[in-house]
Amino acid sequence: MTAPGRPGRFRRGRTLARFARPYTRRGIVAGFTMIVATGASVAGPVVAKQVIDSGIRPGDYSRVVEWVAVFLAVVVVGWMATAAQSYLTSWVGERVLADIRVAVFAHVQRLDLGFFERTPAGVVISRLTNDIEAMNSMVTDGPTTLLQNTLTLVGSAVVLLVLDWRLALATLTVFPAMAIGTAIFRRYSGRAYRRTRERMGDVTASLQEDISGVRVVQAFRREDANYRQFLGVNDRYRAANVQTVNAAAIYFPFVSLLSAVATAVVLGYGGLLVFHGQLSPGSLFAFIGLLSNFFDPVQQLSQFYQTMLSAMAALEKIVEVFDTEPAMADAPGARPLPQIAGKVEFADVHFAYSQSSAEVLHGVSFRAEPGQTVALVGHTGAGKSTVVKLLARFYDPTAGRVLIDGTDVRDVSAHSLRSQLGIVPQESFLFSGSVRANIAFGRPEASDEEVIAAAEAVGADAFIRALPDGYDTEIQERGARLSIGQRQLVAFARALLADPRILILDEATSSVDIPTEARIEEALETLLHGRTAFVVAHRLSTIRRADVIVVLEHGRVIEAGTHRQLIERRGRYFALYDDWVEAVA
Ligand SMILES: Nc1ncnc2c1ncn2[C@@H]1O[C@H](COP(=O)(O)OP(=O)(O)OP(=O)(O)O)[C@@H](O)[C@H]1O
Ligand SMILES: [Mg+2]
Repeated sequence: MTAPGRPGRFRRGRTLARFARPYTRRGIVAGFTMIVATGASVAGPVVAKQVIDSGIRPGDYSRVVEWVAVFLAVVVVGWMATAAQSYLTSWVGERVLADIRVAVFAHVQRLDLGFFERTPAGVVISRLTNDIEAMNSMVTDGPTTLLQNTLTLVGSAVVLLVLDWRLALATLTVFPAMAIGTAIFRRYSGRAYRRTRERMGDVTASLQEDISGVRVVQAFRREDANYRQFLGVNDRYRAANVQTVNAAAIYFPFVSLLSAVATAVVLGYGGLLVFHGQLSPGSLFAFIGLLSNFFDPVQQLSQFYQTMLSAMAALEKIVEVFDTEPAMADAPGARPLPQIAGKVEFADVHFAYSQSSAEVLHGVSFRAEPGQTVALVGHTGAGKSTVVKLLARFYDPTAGRVLIDGTDVRDVSAHSLRSQLGIVPQESFLFSGSVRANIAFGRPEASDEEVIAAAEAVGADAFIRALPDGYDTEIQERGARLSIGQRQLVAFARALLADPRILILDEATSSVDIPTEARIEEALETLLHGRTAFVVAHRLSTIRRADVIVVLEHGRVIEAGTHRQLIERRGRYFALYDDWVEAVA
């Protein structure tokens, strides 16, 4: 996988457009209501001018009444149109955001394990929550602010020019200064906002890690150290925010200043024109009214600009996630793997976790016939877990091949491969939900009878029935309410119910009490029966029973055979076995 660079503005715009497309029709209706609302706001001062110039000044009170009525009508239309448009735009905006959130989630789920090893979970969570939230005001209020203010701006400019072009041109002289100010603001602020997104991710990542690890933190009395570390992370986030605030603190008053300068120009120059009788007092009044009509949008647009810079920084981070391709995507011509018998062969497999890191498997070869149990043994770090990760195709070998029934796992679709594999990791991961749902995790359509049968087969039924709500007991996040041994039995039942052709089991080293140990052993027997199984084994009983024992050392297979063969050879396995027996004795 290649690390994506910063996606350009074009890419971000396209991403937004893609998510907005399904709502085009409502968007158009919203645009129409916006135009009406804007028209009403521009028409207000013009009607007021009529009240003065054709009603009050000629002293015709009936005209005053007429024009006041028109004025009220304009206000009511404007109010209704504004209400409709804010409803419609937030409706569309919220849906676009929800769609983006779902799309990011779906994309993240497809990414390879390597991505999750590189990227802290908290950062991924921040992309899905904070960064999408940061786009909220842009997506919901943005189109309105942008269209309405631009229309108001252009409309007011036209009316100003019609009223008195000399005065209008005099006002526009402030614009070059504004353009320069905005360009500087954008450069500085854009950078600052990108930084806030990154720092925000650090905050979430730090929180996520500390909260998940709270038991260890408390056990080692690391509260103060973690507190101080969090202060640091939090402070860096604050500092990044302050930079954006500083930029805004200079920019917005600058925009106000320009609008005050423009008013001064109009009052001075317009007053002169009224003195000379070249402009009616009503026109000067309308002009000043319109001037705020003209500069309000400028203010609003500049504020929106800030919102947009922030949102764009967030969107950039989200686009980066979209640009991250799963490294383990199916090959173009990938076929579904047909129903397998369960023959597995590693042929001279070399592997490194990344291009920059050292090779951890140096030509591993072995084979397992259908139905055999293969025990992988070796010292810690020898490469046992790595071997099973390659078999499940969480990674691809850098050289050599992994074959199932003679088919290279890279040639088949990952979905069809995994649906025939069962994996019981070292620390089984249970999800929040009922015990039943956790057992049926790999086969949600399984009936209650099947779930119970699976639990019975691995000897989990008794303890599950003893739980407060039996099979309906809610297991908290990660199964926090069950003991490790119980969690493992649930995981066994889950694997058994999924009935995979090939079972991968990273056996827990943690010692459980003798009765549980015996129960787990029995459960294993049931589980391994009739399928090819790879067991990263620490339990002597499991190892002894295996059909093939593969001894790994420093990423190489140094011995392979049955327990008896290896003992007779008096090699490395024999030495390991000696240690074990001694440890147990
Ligand atoms: N995600 C990873 N990224 C980089 N290197 C890794 C990764 N996982 C494991 N390694 C390295 O690969 C080597 C083999 O690790 P592996 O997890 O396969 O060992 P193991 O035999 O399962 O050990 P244990 O018995 O302790 O579980 C080790 O040197 C380890 O440091
Ligand atoms: Mg391991």
